[in-house]
Amino acid sequence: MKQTNKRIILLNDVESTNNYANHLVLSNAAEEGTVVLARFQKSGRGQAGNSWESQSGMNLLASIILYPKLLQAGKQFQISKLVSLSIVEFLEKEIGSVSIKWPNDIYVGEKKIAGILIENSIKGQNLFSSVIGIGLNLNQEKFVSDAPNPVSLKQLTGRNYDVETVLDEILTSLFARYEKLKSGNFQEIDAAYLSGLFRMNEWAKFRKQNELFEARIIGIGEFGQLQQEDRNGKISEFMFKEIEFVL
Ligand code: BTN
Repeated sequence: MKQTNKRIILLNDVESTNNYANHLVLSNAAEEGTVVLARFQKSGRGQAGNSWESQSGMNLLASIILYPKLLQAGKQFQISKLVSLSIVEFLEKEIGSVSIKWPNDIYVGEKKIAGILIENSIKGQNLFSSVIGIGLNLNQEKFVSDAPNPVSLKQLTGRNYDVETVLDEILTSLFARYEKLKSGNFQEIDAAYLSGLFRMNEWAKFRKQNELFEARIIGIGEFGQLQQEDRNGKISEFMFKEIEFVL
């Protein structure tokens, strides 16, 4: 670890780095910027109650603790944006074009290379804490779970990656964006997120409660909702989990 100078808690194995970080927050035992990094998770958690597959020592499994107390609770999607962009920035240096599948899956073509699980707590009108879990597939060459379309950086480039060096790069970019966010500068983050969106402006298939339909993404609302237009010109908005991409 070099320039980021943050407290890193390195664990050999843990249930889930997010659980560990949430526990630190609840016991007031972590300052802002603390990172929990593990080689292996016994019950790594994904979005929507899914599990997260990662072979021991192969990939980046980390949870970062922030206290974004100046951010209104309604603006919490900004955290998703800045984390997605930091991962994209690192990956684009390695492999070129990478996209963000709303709300915060990181994709290379049609394959998922990283997932993000953010768990926030709120105090009054504002955020209190944010535990940002990142699973980034680096060196794993075979995936066995039923996750639909995983890929690792090594599968794409043939090279091996040092987990701590990658973490350091992502943290540097994340904290730089976080400073901008704290100063109320959302425009840059909003624009970059939009321009990195998977299937932005493309007609594509989606599923809502088992019903398939065609639409195109036209934007992201203030609260992170997906804005779409259908073939009849009707505009709709969806919150996370209300709608699925058909890949
Ligand atoms: C997703 O389903 O896309 C989100 C996956 C998030 C996985 C990471 S791995 C580190 C952190 N700890 C967890 O238990 N989950 C997140």
